[in-house]
Amino acid sequence: MTTNTELIIRRPDDWHLHLRDGSMMSAVLPYSSADFGRAIIMPNILPPVTTMEQATRYHRRIVKATPDQHDFKPLMTFYLTESTRADDIEQAASSGLIKAVKLYPAGATTNSESGVQDIKKVMPVLEKMAEIGLPLLVHGEVADSNIDIFDREAVFIDTVLDPLRRSLPQLRIVMEHVTTKTGVQYIISSDKNLAATITAHHLIINRNDILAGGIRPHYYCLPVAKREKHRLALREAVVSGDSRFFFGSDSAPHIDGTKECGCGCAGIFTAINALECLATVFEQENRLDKLEAFVSLNGPKFYGLLPNTSKIRLYKTCDHAGQPEKIQTRDGYVTVFDPMFLIYWHVENIVNDKIY
Ligand code: DOR
Ligand code: ZN
Repeated sequence: MTTNTELIIRRPDDWHLHLRDGSMMSAVLPYSSADFGRAIIMPNILPPVTTMEQATRYHRRIVKATPDQHDFKPLMTFYLTESTRADDIEQAASSGLIKAVKLYPAGATTNSESGVQDIKKVMPVLEKMAEIGLPLLVHGEVADSNIDIFDREAVFIDTVLDPLRRSLPQLRIVMEHVTTKTGVQYIISSDKNLAATITAHHLIINRNDILAGGIRPHYYCLPVAKREKHRLALREAVVSGDSRFFFGSDSAPHIDGTKECGCGCAGIFTAINALECLATVFEQENRLDKLEAFVSLNGPKFYGLLPNTSKIRLYKTCDHAGQPEKIQTRDGYVTVFDPMFLIYWHVENIVNDKIY
């Protein structure tokens, strides 16, 4: 174990976040805006964000729901459908509002029904994105019910991602929430146009935590956590310092009633403790020196943005930082991710050299 007990780093960003909308958004957003400078906002609300008008309005609602004292910039994305037009994408990118386009294979996850069934149908859009340098964010799993759920990421790489990269090498792609050793190796073997986000929870849980000794629905998300060797490969990737790996929480709140039932939703709510969990993971790996690159530097580098100028202080005390088991929203309770270890790390914001 390292003896570091304090770390001052650039303010982090979250490169994959579900804020939802309405009262759920009001309840969860302040946890992200307290700790993160920017976040890539997932467009899988209902209806999905497919037009400039929807994106502009959603952006406005997010800004309005952000506490005044928080310095937080939502980075908006478009939800790719088979009807998306290349011209619309070009216009959205040149407006500066849209920072990326999200590809959900239809049926792969929550609110992905309007996603893409046949990638050939969206090739004109992808060609335009390659031309203008707009990143494609992929939910990297096939939605084919004949493919075992634990193999869906590897099959996506073989049958969708690799052929796509070969036919459009200029397209900049982020493989979102990568969960397998296969995925990590694929990124490492690729060029700078391919990067990946990694969540905090996939660094902490494996599939036994979901299924052994009883079903734990609050550890169920998509892509589903895999076996231990994959979790270890993800840990190796994040501490490697390879700038193609950066943090995306995939914090995805669902009210308890929709998770604790016969067919529970996928998604883990981590916005509230992701940074403290990450500090613990990097400390366990004896690589706290690599945390800043993963949470604050690698993401902006890929997106062609500068790192945040303000800083945060992470410090460790002998007392563990208590966290609520659930948060209350107007729609019901949302269970907070339990990392199954005590968290001794705390986060403080530093603005103009003052600590908040
Ligand atoms: O676990 C997940 N939850 N994975 C996703 O891809 C979507 C997300 C959600 O929106 O709930
Ligand atoms: Zn997600």
